[in-house]
Amino acid sequence: MELQENVNIMPKIGDLAPDFTSVTTVGPLKFSEYNKGSWVILFSHPADFTPVCTTEMSAFAQKEDEFRAMNTKLMGLSIDSIHSHIAWVNNVKEKLGILMKFPIIADIDMKVSKLYGMLQPGESETAAVRAVFIIDPEGIVRLIMYYPLNVGRSMDEIIRALKALQTAHKHKVAMPVNWQPGDKVIVPPPKTVEDMEERMKSDYEMIDFYLAKKDIK
Ligand code: BEZ
Repeated sequence: MELQENVNIMPKIGDLAPDFTSVTTVGPLKFSEYNKGSWVILFSHPADFTPVCTTEMSAFAQKEDEFRAMNTKLMGLSIDSIHSHIAWVNNVKEKLGILMKFPIIADIDMKVSKLYGMLQPGESETAAVRAVFIIDPEGIVRLIMYYPLNVGRSMDEIIRALKALQTAHKHKVAMPVNWQPGDKVIVPPPKTVEDMEERMKSDYEMIDFYLAKKDIK
């Protein structure tokens, strides 16, 4: 009953990411400390020693340097004990030669899963769904993905979305469908007639006054 009451709490895009302190595979961590000065991707997986999760988590580990180069830290989570996490990390290292260095939260009391709406009882009462929260260096939730238990996430899309968020934030622009680094970006629509007239004289690629694209350096 208590679980049902609490599972509906879900941070939304634009909210301050809920803070917590947890046991992780690199020791106890306070989220707000970990988040200070960098982007964080907080993601959950349903269970250790399961096949889809192993493919996803090892893929995150293989991209860890790429994420670091984007000023982004990783943080995994599942409703498993710290001993299970340690045994699984060791197993993945032995079997696949991949070391998951990023912290994995042992959320055995479901505290963080409930805080982030990762427990979705229609899918599972006991395992977290495959959630992804991209959180900016100010602690604001910028993007949320939820996948079910039986479909693994796309690492390419997570990286693309992170690059799009960072570029949009830096240049105060928006990203069109299927945007990839190097593509033109969308200039926010004008707010006044004067702005619109200025825009008509610009060298933007202009479909109409409200749909204009430009290159970014
Ligand atoms: C998996 O990771 O393979 C998995 C985990 C929970 C339910 C179904 C699949």
